[in-house]
Amino acid sequence: MNTEEQKNFKAPPQSYWIASTPTTDYPALNEDMNVEVLIIGGGITGISCAYFLKKEGLKVAVLEADRIAQGTTGHTTAKITSQHNLIYSKIKTQMGEELARQYADANEFAIKEIKRVADDNNIECDYVPQSAFVYTQQEEYIQKISDEVKAASSLGIEAFFTETIPFPISVKAAVRFDNQAQFHPRKYLLALAKNIYDDGVPIFENSRAVDIEESSRYIIKTDRGKKVTAEKVVIASHYPFYNKPGLYFTRIFSERSYVVAVKAKEKYPGGMYISAEEPARSLRYQDSESGELILVGGDHHKTGQGKDTTKHYETLIDFANSIFTVEDIPFRWSTQDCMTMDGLPYVGNFTSDTPNMYIATGFGKWGMTNSMASAVIIKDLIVKGKSPWQDVYNPSRKTIIASAKNFIVENFNVAEQLLDGKLSLPPEDVDIKPGEGKVIKADGKRAGAYKDEQGTLHVVNTTCTHMGCELNWNSAEKTWDCPCHGSRFSYEGKIVEGPAVKPLTVSNDVNTVEKLLKDDY
Ligand code: FES
Repeated sequence: MNTEEQKNFKAPPQSYWIASTPTTDYPALNEDMNVEVLIIGGGITGISCAYFLKKEGLKVAVLEADRIAQGTTGHTTAKITSQHNLIYSKIKTQMGEELARQYADANEFAIKEIKRVADDNNIECDYVPQSAFVYTQQEEYIQKISDEVKAASSLGIEAFFTETIPFPISVKAAVRFDNQAQFHPRKYLLALAKNIYDDGVPIFENSRAVDIEESSRYIIKTDRGKKVTAEKVVIASHYPFYNKPGLYFTRIFSERSYVVAVKAKEKYPGGMYISAEEPARSLRYQDSESGELILVGGDHHKTGQGKDTTKHYETLIDFANSIFTVEDIPFRWSTQDCMTMDGLPYVGNFTSDTPNMYIATGFGKWGMTNSMASAVIIKDLIVKGKSPWQDVYNPSRKTIIASAKNFIVENFNVAEQLLDGKLSLPPEDVDIKPGEGKVIKADGKRAGAYKDEQGTLHVVNTTCTHMGCELNWNSAEKTWDCPCHGSRFSYEGKIVEGPAVKPLTVSNDVNTVEKLLKDDY
């Protein structure tokens, strides 16, 4: 890793979790197969679910579109906490005591369960117990912090009000949860995946599920032309690619947020932190082979709707500089989260009419404990037919209707983005420098052009293959991102994130585009 290049954003973003662990090399699906349960998605939810179901004696397989533990699991801040910002006072007020208690119990259980699974499988994953804090620097949030302490305490969580935190910033108030933890998500998950693979659970990488045929059993078709027949299917692929029932695309939206990993002169004081107010700021540390890294996260925006995405890294670096003497910025990365209408995940039966199809998605920014809770809920639904936490996570819960305002706002936003992309006319001739990507018009059509550092031009059709919205350039990650439901594509048109299941068409018209460019190509 060239540190100077990272500081100047010359090097591509890279997650510390991925950089510090080996890449995986599980085989692709090269022949049709039959299983009892197919799990689609090899992130922490899918692998954990496979682990529990295998222990129950079921014949399970995992299908991953890319490499396992490389999506959101490989780009998280990896806080193992039931403290999901100021959530308990909100759930208690809007959904009642019983559902708030289910959410608290599920996430408190998940903290302990991750540790138990790591211990049972002899996994060394840098697990460190920590206290977690939500802090505020604004007077008007003090009451909200106080309400959260009361709500969480009433649900059995050890929550405390405090006017100071161990971190060197002045705060007005904070809520502290003890007995939380941090870990290295890929050290944990790669070891767990290897254990289940060695125990007879097939894991297929580079095998994207593209459709599901519903008959007496499910037939899951892949982009490799091979299919899996399964009695039950679990969709744990982040944003669900399958929408025939459920219409998930009308009730999930995607957000991106950013992390910089810095080295500082000062020692990190311990603890995990997040601000109650916007812009969100999240902090934790991680011991690495070359010393202590401080992970500074935050700055979110809807996928495909951030203007100059590079500036989010700069903002976080400015924040880090305001607190520490930053000596190095060896890593930076961004992640994508699925957000729901009422802020709670959708976990359980895909719809009330699909008893053998399950889903786990919409974890917001709290995927570590929610993924473990989801794996346990789905295991219980499959094995016992019920879970003590099924109501609060139920994808068909009635409270979703209560969030009708959010539903209207979000879907209006999608319609707006769809129209905006179709109506805005890009310029005919543009100047594209090496490392830049721009929307241009070539032969009367909207196209996306990226010029790599060697000067080679890559031109793609910018119409999203999911539902036809027009893609926007993400300068920080050098991808084409969809403002409607969050699909992302590389500058060569390959799928980086779903729900899209087809790559972009690459323009054969590079010569025409080259002629349109003003600068010497
Ligand atoms: Fe749905 Fe692009 S992700 S239209």
